[in-house]
Amino acid sequence: MEELVALCKRRGFIFQSNEIYGGLQGLYDYGPLGVELKNNLKQSWWRSMVFDRDDVEGLDASILTKPSVLKFSGHQDTFTDPLIDCKNCKARWKADQLKSSNCPSCGSDDLTEPRPFNLMFKTAVGPVEDKESFAYLRPETAQQIFTNFKNVIDSTSKNLPFGIAQIGKAFRNEITPRNFIFRVREFEQMELEFFVNPGSDEEWHKKWVDLRVKWWKEQGVGQENMELYDVPSKELAHYSKATVDIMYRFPHGLEELEGIANRTDFDLGSHSKNQKELNIKAKVMSNNKSNSRLAIQDTDSKKWVVPYVIEPSAGVDRGVLAVLNEAYKTEELTDGKSRIVLALRPHLSPIKGAVIPLKKNHQGLVGLASKIKKDLQKLGLGRILLENSGNIGKSYRRHDEIGTPLCITVDFESLDDNSVTVRNRDTMKQKRIKIAKLKDSLTDILK
Ligand code: GAP
Repeated sequence: MEELVALCKRRGFIFQSNEIYGGLQGLYDYGPLGVELKNNLKQSWWRSMVFDRDDVEGLDASILTKPSVLKFSGHQDTFTDPLIDCKNCKARWKADQLKSSNCPSCGSDDLTEPRPFNLMFKTAVGPVEDKESFAYLRPETAQQIFTNFKNVIDSTSKNLPFGIAQIGKAFRNEITPRNFIFRVREFEQMELEFFVNPGSDEEWHKKWVDLRVKWWKEQGVGQENMELYDVPSKELAHYSKATVDIMYRFPHGLEELEGIANRTDFDLGSHSKNQKELNIKAKVMSNNKSNSRLAIQDTDSKKWVVPYVIEPSAGVDRGVLAVLNEAYKTEELTDGKSRIVLALRPHLSPIKGAVIPLKKNHQGLVGLASKIKKDLQKLGLGRILLENSGNIGKSYRRHDEIGTPLCITVDFESLDDNSVTVRNRDTMKQKRIKIAKLKDSLTDILK
């Protein structure tokens, strides 16, 4: 973990947030390369969930959430961790972190009884700060998918089974954030709520577990480092009938990367019921002929059903940590030296190709290099960088460390023969190729 954290800081992937003011625990900022890697992971998820399927639509809903949504979702009452205070040193612990009846920090046995601590952040809404005018920062992206259920089916005419996908920030006031970006207070989730006919839920649950394991493998996460964990009933979240966690061998141990839950009709049912109880005459509900308001009419049976929900919910930050951990390698070279290489899957690499003129600021070389950069950039395959450093060896080392699949060197011969030297990150082999063929090389490697 220390080596990864050091690489992330040195090369501009991830920084401690608010660092110049001493940092704020449980928050991290993604730097110039981190933001590209994170965006690429999110895009890959979006492609597989939305673009590659015709039964899923996207959503980007608000973060600030009305308290009633989280009251009826059950979060206000149950989204808690048991908290224990050390009366001696004032340290705070999650109950499951205590291996004995002593404080892990000072050893004192003067501890409070565990008490529930709600993990949701609150903020004031509007100019008057009073008990009523507040909102929560959403603790999961899922709830606004449920509250938009009718909007989405009415505007897209979807039939069961179908899903709504969303990527976005979630916030949890974790008692003890730790292990770099693994457990943080502000993070991103990639969540799909997949609505199915009750009765077909168990079959869909299995299908989604398989699909999600396959997707993680495509991101470079080794099967040997993943394990499925059938969450025992006493550990299930309040909304879940069954949950399978995809566990990953993180540098600090085997922990949850993604959870795939069978949320049944808990959320839609609860929001429907409580809409009725509150007598909210929401316009979006007015066409609904069923008694349950968040329902859909089955095209075959014509019956109104409150669908069951299968929810694959993945953490973006945990995903970034997993792909970085898989990709990070130290290799011994034949000359007795070693190199660090980030063997990311090319579609995740922050920079797809670096174009490097042999001599810094040389007009002819830099001119040709920037033309190559512009032409390759236009292909829309991701970021192509012009690196006018003049130090080829150093550039190769840097690009190995940040995972750039191809380095393209423009030398004096290039000006005459329209060819460049292409170096492959993984094999370190160099090939002379025509500039006109660069597009194919890059496209091939990104496939
Ligand atoms: N909507 C369901 C849900 O939120 P969860 O298991 O609490 O379920 C889903 O969270 C995923 O979100 C986790 O598998 C994890 O990847 C990520 N996650 C949860 N809490 C996190 C935290 N404090 N820091 C980073 N990622 C977190």
